[in-house]
Amino acid sequence: MELLALCWHPLWVPCTLVLSVVLWARRAAWRPAACPVDLRGKTAVVTGANSGIGKCAALELARRNARTILACRSRERGAAAVEEIRRATGNPDVHLRILDTSSMASVRNFARQFLEEEGRLHILVNNAGTTDAMKASAPSRIVNVSSFRHQTGEANVQFLSGKEYPKNVSKAYDSTKLMNVLFTVELARRLQGTGQRTALPSRGVTVNALSPGIVHTEIMKNYSWWVRLLFHLVGILFLKSPTQGSFSTTYCAVSEEVEGISGKYFDSDCRLALPSPLARDPAIGRKLWEASEKLVGLDDGGREPASRKVA
Ligand SMILES: NC(=O)c1ccc[n+]([C@@H]2O[C@H](COP(=O)([O-])OP(=O)(O)OC[C@H]3O[C@@H](n4cnc5c(N)ncnc54)[C@H](OP(=O)(O)O)[C@@H]3O)[C@@H](O)[C@H]2O)c1
Repeated sequence: MELLALCWHPLWVPCTLVLSVVLWARRAAWRPAACPVDLRGKTAVVTGANSGIGKCAALELARRNARTILACRSRERGAAAVEEIRRATGNPDVHLRILDTSSMASVRNFARQFLEEEGRLHILVNNAGTTDAMKASAPSRIVNVSSFRHQTGEANVQFLSGKEYPKNVSKAYDSTKLMNVLFTVELARRLQGTGQRTALPSRGVTVNALSPGIVHTEIMKNYSWWVRLLFHLVGILFLKSPTQGSFSTTYCAVSEEVEGISGKYFDSDCRLALPSPLARDPAIGRKLWEASEKLVGLDDGGREPASRKVA
């Protein structure tokens, strides 16, 4: 009875309003509208771009006149997003390519087709293993969407091969996000000195990871109805919209402030932040990288052996 009375207490209304205003005020750390960068002549790829943060980031890149490629696993949902972005931005140079990042065959097909058709890549949001095109297009940027939840992840190499499993779905998610940051730091180390030789050290391929914050997207679509309902209710009041959630991705992909910065982690307010100590451990990063290379059949330089056939 007392609990019921607490739930209906009139103080909830002003408290909720005050908290909503505070959260709303915190949302505008960096505004894409204030960034004048134009991407005419540049090619950008966004993986998982048919909804949520990916779609908003793709829209922002298209709005800046980039040739924008949406790499999606569903032809139907991808085509709908392409149409929506073309209509919203007036940029006809927005295209769909099929990519399912959970299938190595699909990743290889995508990378091969991309290299045949495009050859140049200036911005990659996430990663489809096409760094050769990026080196030829330098200065170029790779942006890995991680999460603040990397802090509770586990960097267990055995997870990669399936010899061991994370304790639950939540731990699995956190561990992938931790590996995103470790991968970012290690890739930055390996990309040092890449790109065209110019007087500016910054004009190579850079790679950074970021947290978008907690964003009201379709991320919970595979959870039970009551979890989704709760997420939507909380989301409407307190969470960032997908557009606001894409700001830190856009910041890493286009902002002048990030030019030349590599191997770093940005928080959801677009501030340079320190990731967890585990995420900064170079030995773990190297170990995960080498294990990944073996699993996907790449050699030391990240090349596919000539004998391997693309499925
Ligand atoms: N929302 C948050 O609060 C939050 C917080 C921290 C980090 N993040 C990260 O932000 C990123 C985007 O998530 P979101 O919140 O925008 O979720 P979302 O609305 O569910 O969007 C995820 C997108 O990724 C695509 N995708 C999923 N698996 C794929 C695969 N195997 N191959 C190709 N595309 C695939 C989905 O395509 P389908 O439509 O085909 O499923 C969808 O377009 C994720 O990396 C997520 O971990 C989100």
